[in-house]
Amino acid sequence: MGFSTDAIHFGQEHDPATGAVIVPIHFSSIFAQKELGEGQPYQYSRTGNPTRAALEKCLAQLEAGRHGFAFASGVAAIHASLTLLKTGDHIVAGDNLYGGTYRLLEQVMKDWGLEITYADTTKLDRVEAAFRPSTRMLYIETPSNPMMEITDLSACGELAHRHSALLAVDNTFMTPYLQRPLECGADIVIHSTTKYLNGHSDGIGGAVIVSDAGLAERVKIIQSSVGAVLSPFDSWLVLRSLKTLPVRMRQHNQNAAVVAEFLKKRAKVVEVFYPGFPANPGYELAKKQMSGFGGMVSFETGSLENAKKVSGALRLCAFSGSLGGAESIVSHPVTMSHSSLTPAQRERSGLTEGLLRISVGLEDVEDIIGDLEQALGRI
Ligand SMILES: Cc1ncc(COP(=O)(O)O)c(C=O)c1O
Repeated sequence: MGFSTDAIHFGQEHDPATGAVIVPIHFSSIFAQKELGEGQPYQYSRTGNPTRAALEKCLAQLEAGRHGFAFASGVAAIHASLTLLKTGDHIVAGDNLYGGTYRLLEQVMKDWGLEITYADTTKLDRVEAAFRPSTRMLYIETPSNPMMEITDLSACGELAHRHSALLAVDNTFMTPYLQRPLECGADIVIHSTTKYLNGHSDGIGGAVIVSDAGLAERVKIIQSSVGAVLSPFDSWLVLRSLKTLPVRMRQHNQNAAVVAEFLKKRAKVVEVFYPGFPANPGYELAKKQMSGFGGMVSFETGSLENAKKVSGALRLCAFSGSLGGAESIVSHPVTMSHSSLTPAQRERSGLTEGLLRISVGLEDVEDIIGDLEQALGRI
């Protein structure tokens, strides 16, 4: 079946008891056993829940994987992936990641004994140079957040495997509709479902998708043992939202391309970071491994003062730290998503105080542009 058909139907059989077409929200925390010792699919909702299971099946199918796991947040999903590693293992991570991932690596996983080297993953020689005999994972985001740099998924998969390491990819920005890392050689795909997958800014969640049965068994043990599972209601919300993922992503793509062009033509905007510009160094690669350029655009206003003026003047766009909702969301990465980065780390990523990031929403694009136009007028 096609992607859109799977997004609506996969893992969502009509309820055998009632014929309900939509998967019910199974709030029950316990499932009665008919007989002592009897094996049955559900026993206790932390370990398995029918609503969550429907979502996990659908997500795995959309990511071209075999096994999906839904978590209470994106960072819980990232944490579960990192705890596949052992104390003393080394990880090579992109130097332009979501700030919360950086915080998790630096403030939690380091104390737990993980060794970490950051590298510019757009430069394969630098990635390879960062590998050690103890490297067990290469962890990347592409496009990166918020600089929108593109990393070669297939090349990273090949490199990681040559060093007996796993390739983990945070696919939150793209969603499986636009990019499927497992098809390009990744071993683990991670999502903050809070963003495009849930898509309506009304739920926090995360997911891990893998194909390998051994990896799946480990993730299942971590999910069940640590217990940071997605609730039945939130699972249902994401499942419902997935049905419109393709149409939403098409519109996000279309609106973002128009907004990026608009920003490029504004004299008050110093630079625009968008993978859909032919002049972007990652453009050809983006065309190869993505089927659209996505809904995210970052732009440089020139100074903290200018960023304050623009963000403070917005009337339609929400000024907030998230992305992927139906509404347009402008964020200031330095004080929001990337506030845990040190100034040196920020400088290395090219992240300035004047940078704003827009998650281009589904409103009429003229209205989004009108809001940005009037806000830029404050500079
Ligand atoms: C790319 C990316 N990955 C992971 C996360 C973390 O997700 P959550 O906020 O759902 O824990 C975020 C949050 O902004 C993100 O942007």
